[in-house]
Amino acid sequence: MYPSDIFSRLYSGEESDKVYPKEVIEEAPEGVEDILQTNLFNVMLNRRSQRKFENKEVEDWKMEMIFAAADTAPTAGGFQGFEIFHVKKPELKPKLVEAANKQPYVNAPEVLVFCMNPDRVKLNFPQEIIRKFSVQDATLAAAYAQLAAHALGLSTVWIGMIDEKKVMEILGTELVPSSILCIGYPQKMLQPKPKRNLLDLIHIVQ
Ligand SMILES: Cc1cc2nc3c(=O)[nH]c(=O)nc-3n(C[C@H](O)[C@H](O)[C@H](O)COP(=O)(O)O)c2cc1C
Repeated sequence: MYPSDIFSRLYSGEESDKVYPKEVIEEAPEGVEDILQTNLFNVMLNRRSQRKFENKEVEDWKMEMIFAAADTAPTAGGFQGFEIFHVKKPELKPKLVEAANKQPYVNAPEVLVFCMNPDRVKLNFPQEIIRKFSVQDATLAAAYAQLAAHALGLSTVWIGMIDEKKVMEILGTELVPSSILCIGYPQKMLQPKPKRNLLDLIHIVQ
């Protein structure tokens, strides 16, 4: 099944299909690799982590779109408690590979490190809440960037397995990283991974 349309996911376990169509496409449509996706729901549905990138530069305008998208994410109090480090220096990438448990695909065409910046969050709450907010700010921004990249025909992999201290040293920052987003053109577009049935995922509390 190739769930190219979000409707194929909607309550697929339910008996009734009165509300939503349940389209099931058996095979990926031809030329699917070239599709630039702009429907938000379908971008979400078809996003798939990619660990093999083409040796091809990503256009600057696409990176700018990705940054602009990250910047649209909600943040605690609107204080934008995060920063993005765009790693351009090629010699830093192997060091980041090392800091990411030797995951070789961290040496990707584009590497973004999302860091927390709790000092930006000017809210009168306990320090651990502020820290939690900045983790969430950085995470959401990375998630928005990830979706934007896919909408632009790129692929990504989210890297959470990082040695924070090593990454901070490599970047020369005091800010703690939350994730690395590796971006590039995919060698081969992969189909999305199967997920839980929505009925198993959603717990209705009433
Ligand atoms: C918090 C988090 C941490 C992750 N860390 C890594 C990582 O260190 N290395 C990696 O290859 N993938 C990592 N991933 C990617 C997941 O493995 C991937 O999203 C998951 O297998 C689901 O596949 P999909 O993204 O294709 O749907 C991470 C994802 C998240 C959300």
